[in-house]
Amino acid sequence: MEELAPTLVWALEKFVPLRSVKEFLVAGDFLYGYGRDAVREYIEREGRGASSRPTLLTKLVVGNKETGAEPLSDEEIVVEVSNLMFAAVDTTGTSATYALYELACNPGWQRRLQQEIRTSGVGKKGFEYRTVSELPVLNAVVTENLRMHPAAPSALPRQTVGPVTVIDGLPLPEGILVSMQAMTTQRDPAYFPDPDKFDPARWLAPGPDGKEQIFPGTPEMQEMMLVWGGKGGPRSCPGRYMATMEMKLLLARLMDRYTVALESEATHDDMVMTDHFALIPKGGRCGLVVSRHDV
Ligand code: HEM
Repeated sequence: MEELAPTLVWALEKFVPLRSVKEFLVAGDFLYGYGRDAVREYIEREGRGASSRPTLLTKLVVGNKETGAEPLSDEEIVVEVSNLMFAAVDTTGTSATYALYELACNPGWQRRLQQEIRTSGVGKKGFEYRTVSELPVLNAVVTENLRMHPAAPSALPRQTVGPVTVIDGLPLPEGILVSMQAMTTQRDPAYFPDPDKFDPARWLAPGPDGKEQIFPGTPEMQEMMLVWGGKGGPRSCPGRYMATMEMKLLLARLMDRYTVALESEATHDDMVMTDHFALIPKGGRCGLVVSRHDV
Protein backbone atom coordinates (compact mmCIF):
# COMPACT_ATOMS: atom_id res chain seq x y z
CA MET A 1 0.00 0.00 0.00
CA GLU A 2 2.70 2.41 1.06
CA GLU A 3 4.58 1.66 -2.16
CA LEU A 4 1.55 2.66 -4.20
CA ALA A 5 0.43 5.79 -2.44
CA PRO A 6 2.78 6.94 0.36
CA THR A 7 1.10 10.33 0.82
CA LEU A 8 -2.34 8.75 1.02
CA VAL A 9 -1.12 6.25 3.64
CA TRP A 10 0.47 9.02 5.69
CA ALA A 11 -2.75 11.07 5.56
CA LEU A 12 -4.92 8.09 6.48
CA GLU A 13 -2.75 7.16 9.44
CA LYS A 14 -2.63 10.74 10.70
CA PHE A 15 -6.23 11.84 10.20
CA VAL A 16 -8.26 8.63 10.34
CA PRO A 17 -7.07 6.85 13.47
CA LEU A 18 -9.70 4.12 13.16
CA ARG A 19 -8.79 0.53 14.05
CA SER A 20 -10.26 -0.78 10.80
CA VAL A 21 -8.15 1.68 8.75
CA LYS A 22 -5.00 0.65 10.65
CA GLU A 23 -5.81 -3.03 10.13
CA PHE A 24 -6.34 -2.40 6.42
CA LEU A 25 -2.96 -0.69 6.14
CA VAL A 26 -1.20 -3.45 8.10
CA ALA A 27 -2.83 -6.08 5.87
CA GLY A 28 -1.45 -4.21 2.85
CA ASP A 29 2.07 -4.21 4.32
CA PHE A 30 1.78 -7.92 5.05
CA LEU A 31 0.68 -8.75 1.52
CA TYR A 32 3.39 -6.59 -0.10
CA GLY A 33 5.97 -8.20 2.20
CA TYR A 34 4.76 -11.58 1.03
CA GLY A 35 4.90 -10.46 -2.62
CA ARG A 36 8.44 -9.10 -2.11
CA ASP A 37 9.64 -12.42 -0.62
CA ALA A 38 8.00 -14.41 -3.43
CA VAL A 39 9.63 -12.30 -6.17
CA ARG A 40 13.06 -12.42 -4.46
CA GLU A 41 12.86 -16.22 -4.14
CA TYR A 42 11.78 -16.54 -7.77
CA ILE A 43 14.70 -14.44 -9.05
CA GLU A 44 17.17 -16.34 -6.82
CA ARG A 45 15.89 -19.63 -8.20
CA GLU A 46 15.38 -18.77 -11.89
CA GLY A 47 17.93 -16.01 -12.35
CA ARG A 48 17.49 -13.04 -14.68
CA GLY A 49 18.31 -14.74 -17.96
CA ALA A 50 15.86 -16.32 -20.41
CA SER A 51 14.33 -19.14 -18.39
CA SER A 52 13.33 -22.61 -19.48
CA ARG A 53 9.95 -21.76 -17.90
CA PRO A 54 8.32 -19.16 -20.15
CA THR A 55 5.95 -17.76 -17.53
CA LEU A 56 4.49 -14.27 -17.45
CA LEU A 57 6.77 -13.52 -14.51
CA THR A 58 9.86 -14.47 -16.54
CA LYS A 59 8.74 -12.08 -19.28
CA LEU A 60 8.44 -9.28 -16.72
CA VAL A 61 11.90 -10.03 -15.29
CA VAL A 62 13.69 -10.56 -18.61
CA GLY A 63 11.76 -8.38 -21.05
CA ASN A 64 11.69 -9.26 -24.73
CA LYS A 65 14.67 -8.45 -26.95
CA GLU A 66 12.74 -9.18 -30.15
CA THR A 67 9.95 -6.70 -29.47
CA GLY A 68 12.20 -4.35 -27.52
CA ALA A 69 10.02 -4.66 -24.40
CA GLU A 70 12.07 -3.53 -21.39
CA PRO A 71 11.97 -5.62 -18.20
CA LEU A 72 10.06 -4.14 -15.29
CA SER A 73 12.00 -3.07 -12.21
CA ASP A 74 11.94 -5.44 -9.24
CA GLU A 75 9.78 -2.98 -7.32
CA GLU A 76 7.25 -2.80 -10.16
CA ILE A 77 7.11 -6.59 -10.30
CA VAL A 78 6.55 -6.77 -6.54
CA VAL A 79 3.58 -4.42 -6.91
CA GLU A 80 2.12 -6.48 -9.79
CA VAL A 81 2.51 -9.77 -7.90
CA SER A 82 1.07 -8.32 -4.70
CA ASN A 83 -1.87 -6.78 -6.57
CA LEU A 84 -2.63 -10.18 -8.07
CA MET A 85 -2.69 -11.66 -4.57
CA PHE A 86 -4.99 -8.85 -3.43
CA ALA A 87 -7.32 -9.63 -6.33
CA ALA A 88 -7.16 -13.41 -6.00
CA VAL A 89 -6.92 -14.55 -2.40
CA ASP A 90 -9.75 -12.99 -0.40
CA THR A 91 -12.21 -12.97 -3.31
CA THR A 92 -11.91 -16.71 -3.85
CA GLY A 93 -11.65 -17.52 -0.13
CA THR A 94 -14.72 -15.48 0.79
CA SER A 95 -16.75 -16.94 -2.09
CA ALA A 96 -15.84 -20.50 -1.11
CA THR A 97 -16.73 -19.75 2.52
CA TYR A 98 -20.17 -18.49 1.49
CA ALA A 99 -20.66 -21.58 -0.67
CA LEU A 100 -20.07 -23.84 2.34
CA TYR A 101 -22.35 -21.67 4.44
CA GLU A 102 -25.13 -21.95 1.84
CA LEU A 103 -24.71 -25.73 1.69
CA ALA A 104 -25.02 -25.87 5.48
CA CYS A 105 -28.19 -23.74 5.28
CA ASN A 106 -29.61 -25.87 2.45
CA PRO A 107 -29.06 -29.53 3.36
CA GLY A 108 -31.25 -30.67 0.45
CA TRP A 109 -28.86 -29.10 -2.06
CA GLN A 110 -25.90 -30.42 -0.10
CA ARG A 111 -27.27 -33.97 -0.42
CA ARG A 112 -27.86 -33.47 -4.16
CA LEU A 113 -24.31 -32.30 -4.59
CA GLN A 114 -22.90 -35.22 -2.58
CA GLN A 115 -24.96 -37.61 -4.68
CA GLU A 116 -23.70 -36.07 -7.92
CA ILE A 117 -20.09 -36.32 -6.78
CA ARG A 118 -20.63 -39.94 -5.77
CA THR A 119 -22.46 -41.09 -8.92
CA SER A 120 -20.06 -39.25 -11.26
CA GLY A 121 -17.23 -41.40 -9.92
CA VAL A 122 -14.98 -38.39 -9.69
CA GLY A 123 -13.50 -39.72 -6.43
CA LYS A 124 -12.07 -42.67 -8.37
CA LYS A 125 -11.19 -40.77 -11.58
CA GLY A 126 -9.29 -38.18 -9.54
CA PHE A 127 -10.16 -34.62 -8.61
CA GLU A 128 -9.06 -32.59 -11.60
CA TYR A 129 -10.73 -29.72 -13.34
CA ARG A 130 -11.71 -31.88 -16.30
CA THR A 131 -13.53 -34.31 -14.00
CA VAL A 132 -15.46 -31.67 -12.06
CA SER A 133 -15.96 -28.75 -14.48
CA GLU A 134 -19.07 -30.11 -16.21
CA LEU A 135 -20.95 -31.47 -13.19
CA PRO A 136 -24.34 -29.69 -13.43
CA VAL A 137 -25.26 -29.48 -9.74
CA LEU A 138 -21.75 -28.41 -8.74
CA ASN A 139 -21.79 -25.74 -11.44
CA ALA A 140 -25.25 -24.59 -10.33
CA VAL A 141 -24.22 -24.37 -6.66
CA VAL A 142 -21.09 -22.35 -7.49
CA THR A 143 -22.96 -19.98 -9.85
CA GLU A 144 -25.89 -19.45 -7.49
CA ASN A 145 -23.50 -18.73 -4.64
CA LEU A 146 -21.66 -16.14 -6.76
CA ARG A 147 -25.03 -14.59 -7.60
CA MET A 148 -26.01 -14.22 -3.96
CA HIS A 149 -22.57 -13.37 -2.58
CA PRO A 150 -20.51 -11.48 -5.18
CA ALA A 151 -17.02 -10.87 -3.77
CA ALA A 152 -17.07 -7.27 -5.08
CA PRO A 153 -20.71 -6.41 -4.39
CA SER A 154 -20.70 -2.65 -4.86
CA ALA A 155 -20.31 -0.18 -7.70
CA LEU A 156 -17.35 -0.58 -10.06
CA PRO A 157 -17.22 2.92 -11.54
CA ARG A 158 -16.23 3.54 -15.14
CA GLN A 159 -15.78 6.86 -16.97
CA THR A 160 -17.10 7.46 -20.45
CA VAL A 161 -14.33 8.28 -22.89
CA GLY A 162 -16.56 9.90 -25.47
CA PRO A 163 -17.14 11.98 -27.43
CA VAL A 164 -20.53 10.28 -26.94
CA THR A 165 -21.12 6.91 -25.32
CA VAL A 166 -24.52 5.31 -25.75
CA ILE A 167 -25.53 3.01 -22.90
CA ASP A 168 -28.86 1.29 -23.17
CA GLY A 169 -30.05 3.93 -25.65
CA LEU A 170 -28.96 6.83 -23.41
CA PRO A 171 -26.34 9.14 -24.99
CA LEU A 172 -23.72 10.28 -22.44
CA PRO A 173 -21.02 12.91 -23.01
CA GLU A 174 -17.34 12.28 -22.28
CA GLY A 175 -16.17 12.13 -18.66
CA ILE A 176 -19.38 10.88 -17.04
CA LEU A 177 -19.02 8.34 -14.23
CA VAL A 178 -21.26 5.33 -14.73
CA SER A 179 -21.54 2.26 -12.55
CA MET A 180 -23.68 -0.73 -11.74
CA GLN A 181 -23.43 -2.95 -8.72
CA ALA A 182 -23.57 -6.71 -8.69
CA MET A 183 -25.50 -6.77 -5.43
CA THR A 184 -28.39 -4.95 -7.14
CA THR A 185 -28.40 -6.52 -10.59
CA GLN A 186 -27.92 -10.06 -9.30
CA ARG A 187 -30.93 -9.71 -7.00
CA ASP A 188 -33.22 -8.15 -9.58
CA PRO A 189 -36.49 -10.11 -9.30
CA ALA A 190 -37.26 -9.45 -12.97
CA TYR A 191 -34.47 -11.86 -13.88
CA PHE A 192 -34.04 -13.87 -10.69
CA PRO A 193 -37.48 -14.58 -9.20
CA ASP A 194 -37.46 -14.87 -5.40
CA PRO A 195 -33.98 -13.34 -5.52
CA ASP A 196 -33.05 -13.81 -1.84
CA LYS A 197 -33.57 -17.55 -2.10
CA PHE A 198 -30.53 -19.78 -2.68
CA ASP A 199 -31.87 -21.74 -5.63
CA PRO A 200 -29.24 -23.46 -7.81
CA ALA A 201 -32.12 -24.80 -9.97
CA ARG A 202 -31.94 -21.46 -11.83
CA TRP A 203 -28.78 -22.81 -13.46
CA LEU A 204 -30.12 -26.27 -14.36
CA ALA A 205 -32.26 -27.42 -17.29
CA PRO A 206 -33.42 -30.79 -18.56
CA GLY A 207 -31.19 -32.16 -21.32
CA PRO A 208 -32.36 -34.12 -24.39
CA ASP A 209 -31.97 -37.37 -22.42
CA GLY A 210 -34.12 -35.97 -19.62
CA LYS A 211 -31.13 -35.66 -17.29
CA GLU A 212 -30.34 -32.30 -15.74
CA GLN A 213 -27.64 -30.32 -17.48
CA ILE A 214 -25.88 -27.01 -17.04
CA PHE A 215 -28.05 -23.99 -17.92
CA PRO A 216 -25.90 -20.87 -18.48
CA GLY A 217 -28.89 -18.58 -17.87
CA THR A 218 -30.93 -16.50 -20.30
CA PRO A 219 -28.98 -13.73 -22.10
CA GLU A 220 -30.57 -11.27 -19.63
CA MET A 221 -29.47 -13.31 -16.61
CA GLN A 222 -25.94 -13.45 -18.00
CA GLU A 223 -26.02 -9.69 -18.55
CA MET A 224 -27.08 -9.11 -14.93
CA MET A 225 -24.33 -11.30 -13.47
CA LEU A 226 -21.69 -8.69 -12.67
CA VAL A 227 -19.76 -10.85 -10.23
CA TRP A 228 -16.75 -10.89 -12.56
CA GLY A 229 -17.02 -7.20 -13.41
CA GLY A 230 -18.91 -7.80 -16.63
CA LYS A 231 -19.39 -10.44 -19.26
CA GLY A 232 -15.85 -10.37 -20.61
CA GLY A 233 -14.96 -6.73 -21.23
CA PRO A 234 -11.31 -5.69 -21.11
CA ARG A 235 -11.40 -4.93 -17.35
CA SER A 236 -13.42 -7.91 -16.23
CA CYS A 237 -11.77 -10.47 -13.99
CA PRO A 238 -8.94 -12.36 -15.72
CA GLY A 239 -8.89 -14.81 -12.78
CA ARG A 240 -12.47 -16.00 -13.21
CA TYR A 241 -11.59 -19.40 -14.67
CA MET A 242 -8.94 -20.08 -12.06
CA ALA A 243 -11.29 -19.01 -9.25
CA THR A 244 -14.13 -21.15 -10.60
CA MET A 245 -11.77 -24.11 -10.88
CA GLU A 246 -10.56 -23.66 -7.31
CA MET A 247 -14.08 -23.43 -5.91
CA LYS A 248 -15.31 -26.46 -7.85
CA LEU A 249 -12.34 -28.58 -6.82
CA LEU A 250 -12.65 -27.53 -3.18
CA LEU A 251 -16.38 -28.25 -2.99
CA ALA A 252 -16.10 -31.54 -4.89
CA ARG A 253 -13.34 -32.82 -2.63
CA LEU A 254 -15.08 -31.77 0.55
CA MET A 255 -18.53 -33.01 -0.43
CA ASP A 256 -17.08 -36.36 -1.46
CA ARG A 257 -16.23 -37.13 2.16
CA TYR A 258 -17.73 -34.53 4.45
CA THR A 259 -20.99 -32.89 5.45
CA VAL A 260 -21.15 -29.34 6.75
CA ALA A 261 -23.73 -28.08 9.25
CA LEU A 262 -24.22 -24.80 11.07
CA GLU A 263 -22.30 -24.62 14.35
CA SER A 264 -25.15 -22.58 15.85
CA GLU A 265 -27.66 -19.92 14.93
CA ALA A 266 -24.91 -17.35 15.57
CA THR A 267 -23.34 -18.36 12.24
CA HIS A 268 -26.16 -16.51 10.43
CA ASP A 269 -25.24 -13.30 12.23
CA ASP A 270 -21.50 -13.77 11.57
CA MET A 271 -22.17 -14.34 7.87
CA VAL A 272 -24.22 -11.17 7.32
CA MET A 273 -22.60 -9.56 4.30
CA THR A 274 -20.75 -6.28 4.81
CA ASP A 275 -19.32 -4.23 1.98
CA HIS A 276 -15.74 -2.97 2.28
CA PHE A 277 -15.44 -2.81 -1.50
CA ALA A 278 -14.61 -6.48 -0.99
CA LEU A 279 -17.34 -8.57 0.57
CA ILE A 280 -16.56 -9.46 4.19
CA PRO A 281 -18.71 -11.54 6.56
CA LYS A 282 -19.71 -9.36 9.52
CA GLY A 283 -18.28 -11.64 12.20
CA GLY A 284 -15.08 -12.46 10.30
CA ARG A 285 -15.75 -16.16 10.82
CA CYS A 286 -18.06 -18.90 9.59
CA GLY A 287 -18.96 -21.35 12.34
CA LEU A 288 -19.56 -24.75 10.73
CA VAL A 289 -19.36 -28.30 12.00
CA VAL A 290 -17.68 -30.61 9.51
CA SER A 291 -18.33 -34.34 9.87
CA ARG A 292 -17.19 -37.28 7.79
CA HIS A 293 -19.95 -39.19 6.05
CA ASP A 294 -19.97 -42.78 4.77
CA VAL A 295 -18.58 -43.18 1.28
C1 HEM B 1 -14.43 -15.61 -6.74
C2 HEM B 1 -13.29 -15.02 -7.05
C3 HEM B 1 -13.16 -13.69 -7.78
C4 HEM B 1 -14.09 -12.71 -8.00
C5 HEM B 1 -15.56 -12.70 -7.58
C6 HEM B 1 -13.43 -11.66 -8.74
C7 HEM B 1 -14.05 -10.48 -9.16
C8 HEM B 1 -13.42 -9.49 -9.86
C9 HEM B 1 -14.05 -8.26 -10.31
C10 HEM B 1 -15.51 -7.88 -10.07
C11 HEM B 1 -13.12 -7.54 -10.97
C12 HEM B 1 -13.33 -6.18 -11.66
C13 HEM B 1 -12.93 -5.05 -10.73
C14 HEM B 1 -13.18 -3.71 -11.37
O1 HEM B 1 -13.75 -3.65 -12.42
O2 HEM B 1 -12.80 -2.70 -10.80
C15 HEM B 1 -11.88 -8.27 -10.94
C16 HEM B 1 -10.70 -7.84 -11.48
C17 HEM B 1 -9.53 -8.53 -11.41
N1 HEM B 1 -9.34 -9.80 -10.91
FE1 HEM B 1 -10.75 -10.97 -10.04
N2 HEM B 1 -12.13 -12.02 -8.95
C18 HEM B 1 -11.92 -13.25 -8.39
C19 HEM B 1 -10.74 -13.98 -8.41
C20 HEM B 1 -9.58 -13.60 -9.03
C21 HEM B 1 -8.39 -14.41 -9.16
C22 HEM B 1 -8.25 -15.85 -8.65
C23 HEM B 1 -7.45 -13.65 -9.80
C24 HEM B 1 -6.05 -13.98 -10.20
C25 HEM B 1 -5.50 -15.16 -10.23
C26 HEM B 1 -8.06 -12.36 -10.09
C27 HEM B 1 -7.42 -11.32 -10.73
C28 HEM B 1 -8.02 -10.13 -11.07
C29 HEM B 1 -7.30 -9.00 -11.68
C30 HEM B 1 -5.82 -8.95 -12.01
C31 HEM B 1 -8.25 -8.01 -11.89
C32 HEM B 1 -8.01 -6.62 -12.51
C33 HEM B 1 -8.30 -6.66 -13.98
C34 HEM B 1 -8.10 -5.30 -14.64
O3 HEM B 1 -8.46 -4.27 -14.07
O4 HEM B 1 -7.60 -5.28 -15.74
N3 HEM B 1 -9.36 -12.39 -9.63
N4 HEM B 1 -12.09 -9.47 -10.27
